[in-house]
Amino acid sequence: MQPVAIKEDIYWVGNVDYDHRDFHGYSRSPAGSTSNAYFLVDEKNVLLDTVPSGREGSLLCRMAKTLDPEKIDYIVCNHMELDHAGALEAIVERCKPEKIFVSQAGLKSLAGYFGNRDWPVHAVKSGDSISTGKHTIVFQETRMLHWPDSMVSYIPEKKLLISNDIFGQNIASSARFVDDFNNDSEYEQRIKEYFYNIVLPYSPMVLKTLPVVEKLDIDMIAPDHGLIQRGEKAVRHIIGMYRTLAEQKPAQRALVVYDSMWQSTRTMAYAVCSGLEENGVPARVMSAKLNHHSEIMTELADCGAFVAGSPTHNNTILPYVASCLTYMKGLRPQNRVGGAFGSYGWSGEAPASLQEMLAAMKMEMPAQPVKANWRPGKDDLKACHALGATIAATLKERCRG
Ligand SMILES: Cc1cc2nc3c(=O)[nH]c(=O)nc-3n(C[C@H](O)[C@H](O)[C@H](O)COP(=O)(O)O)c2cc1C
Ligand SMILES: [Fe+2]
Ligand SMILES: [Fe+2]
Repeated sequence: MQPVAIKEDIYWVGNVDYDHRDFHGYSRSPAGSTSNAYFLVDEKNVLLDTVPSGREGSLLCRMAKTLDPEKIDYIVCNHMELDHAGALEAIVERCKPEKIFVSQAGLKSLAGYFGNRDWPVHAVKSGDSISTGKHTIVFQETRMLHWPDSMVSYIPEKKLLISNDIFGQNIASSARFVDDFNNDSEYEQRIKEYFYNIVLPYSPMVLKTLPVVEKLDIDMIAPDHGLIQRGEKAVRHIIGMYRTLAEQKPAQRALVVYDSMWQSTRTMAYAVCSGLEENGVPARVMSAKLNHHSEIMTELADCGAFVAGSPTHNNTILPYVASCLTYMKGLRPQNRVGGAFGSYGWSGEAPASLQEMLAAMKMEMPAQPVKANWRPGKDDLKACHALGATIAATLKERCRG
């Protein structure tokens, strides 16, 4: 296990986990993931971020090839979530650092996870910097991007931004840099997946932070998950993608999510999909049972419209649809056109409930929900098709605007 020099005097010492499938316990990571940590060799040697608990062996083993871990003077903890700070206790014990730097809000999460230790902790705020000899580390708090304690570290002499969770992607690979990965579509898909499942609620903060990042003189962004963006082209590309993802401008594509017991609502979903497609809006149907909620969110990244279907089950909606919508609500997607439908037997509450849930997410609902009694007949399917057509017309109008 070797460290990887990413710049002169700066090394990657992270952990690659090809088996990681359940990022943070709720988001699928089909391509595995990495927890990246970095160290800087200077008069004061600095470790920036750590790895999950139990993975400290790989960090220390890599580091030891270049620098005796006991020679680490400072540790910077940009964010206290346990994929970055889980190994902190073991690392502190081993390295015995002279100083540990965290953000102001990091003091609380540090105490919350590790208790009140006699560690040499120093709180820093935006604009504070430390000198390590030949280098400077400038801190920039990025509160709520995505925890109160989150911050990033900028090393101007190296034109390097260590961006913690921002700009990360769940990719396990022997490639450390985007330009070594040679699979642009997979890379972009994993950026969308990460953004739409972790960063999305903080889109307004992203839009405030990007101009701050753009003012920095950088030619490398080293995030704490996945591949490092090396060179101006890769840096510009990720910043551009983040801006697009955070802006959530309407995209002319739709997502139809449903669940069904006896296939009536499923049949309706396909009719809604046809109504969309045949009116100029490409669409995809996803079963809430067959697709994980995080896969559904990733798909939403490309869709300006979202249509939900559920039969009425015990006077309410089916649990997979409920779970998907609860998850989606928390991620606060903006600027979508919505619609609702479902089959029922006697009371038929589900479509109206769905309509209400989507409206509560501030989706524009241009049509009444479509209900079909028992098995949908020709007229019911026509109504579903018309629902798709109305949503398509509304979305196309938005895309033109
Ligand atoms: C366990 C169960 C509970 C149901 N509860 C309700 C209900 O509370 N109100 C209602 O209108 N229909 C209810 N239904 C009837 C279904 O909504 C109806 O069969 C519908 O056509 C199923 O659509 P699907 O084929 O998409 O599953 C229930 C059906 C089942 C199997
Ligand atoms: Fe995090
Ligand atoms: Fe993370």
